[in-house]
Amino acid sequence: MDFNLSTEQMEMRQLVRDFARDVISPRAAEIDETDEFPRDILQQMGKLGMLGLPIPEQYGGVGADFVAYMTAIEEISYASAALGVILAVHTSVGSFPILYFGTETQKQHYLPLLASGRMIGGFALTESGAGSDAVAIRTRATREGDFYILNGNKVFITNGGEAGVYCVFAVTNPERGARGITTFLVDADTEGFRVGKKEKKMGLHGSATCELHFDDARVPVQNRLGEEGQGFSIAMRLLDGGRIGIAAQGLGIAQAALDAAYAYTRVRKQFGQELNQFQGIQFMLADMATQVEAARWLVYHAAQMRQAGVDCTREASMAKLFATDTAMHVSTDAVQLFGGYGYTRDYPVERYMRDAKITQIYEGTNQIQRMVIARHLQS
Ligand code: CAA
Repeated sequence: MDFNLSTEQMEMRQLVRDFARDVISPRAAEIDETDEFPRDILQQMGKLGMLGLPIPEQYGGVGADFVAYMTAIEEISYASAALGVILAVHTSVGSFPILYFGTETQKQHYLPLLASGRMIGGFALTESGAGSDAVAIRTRATREGDFYILNGNKVFITNGGEAGVYCVFAVTNPERGARGITTFLVDADTEGFRVGKKEKKMGLHGSATCELHFDDARVPVQNRLGEEGQGFSIAMRLLDGGRIGIAAQGLGIAQAALDAAYAYTRVRKQFGQELNQFQGIQFMLADMATQVEAARWLVYHAAQMRQAGVDCTREASMAKLFATDTAMHVSTDAVQLFGGYGYTRDYPVERYMRDAKITQIYEGTNQIQRMVIARHLQS
């Protein structure tokens, strides 16, 4: 099943697949073990255009479409889910905000830097008291002449400490709730801005997750993205696309776990025959493969809708929910099929399982996805 990918989309997927399997896969265990941000690989990806795939050529990108970009996230995540999320956040919620909502000056300044990988992008919405309830953010932005003064703290920020620019959400009018939130592009060297604690995570090692602190951070008015009060709508529209990216990440992890499990059960012998000769094992593999196939349909269906410019809030949430639950189920079953070996670091399946868990949590927990789907059942 090729979802009718065009020749260009298939060529791009092949290019990314070759890079992911030749360059990233051999390094994935080491990245997981050391938890070091893989700057050298990102540099190579930047040179090959992979950090600006869906950015138009006039801003230094490749000009690929959204579907091709999703195939790239899937392929990169197959090799390393950490690099998958670095790419997804950098592009979907680090670069797209500027492309979709930026002024021409903002686009010309930031997009060539981001598309070439000379700068990494970040997205700062979540706070300690505002995770699922994103409207409850408390970071304040107060206008003083030609600047906004930002005060507050963000948590769990992917690419934290590595990004050169963050898309930051802050309250400009506390009385207006969701309509009182505004978006800012905050440069990493902004006075009053600093990166705080780096989280030690269960998985996704190599991807940096940090707190951000704003203590009278001075952000020039020209770095406001969109109008005052437009911020929450910007965040939600970005997350519609971002969630398809996380779904593609889950799909990549699930496919990697399935392939590893299938290969292992063909060679591992117990009771005088290969594991895949047992019907109980065949049933497990059949269920895993069916879930992966179904996830792929949902992911690429949502991606095609997004590409066509059709409202896909519901389909993005369905794809995110199903593909990331699939990543968790399939990677857990892959560990089971490897038996005791699956629980060791000698094989990659325990990493897939640790990495899969976060995909059910970030860019909106799967409980939030259900809430969004339920609210859109009429449309
Ligand atoms: N597109 C455009 N606008 C939207 C929208 C969408 N998909 N969804 C909501 N809005 C608008 C609404 O129309 C409404 O606008 P008005 O006030 O003008 O009417 C406004 O936003 C508020 O919407 P709701 O009333 O639906 O707000 P809510 O509080 O009931 O629910 C929510 C919102 C869906 C639960 C939202 O808070 C949410 O998505 N929460 C999860 C947060 C999240 O996903 N965080 C991800 C962090 S980033 C990350 O994880 C990156 C990473 O590291 C991988």
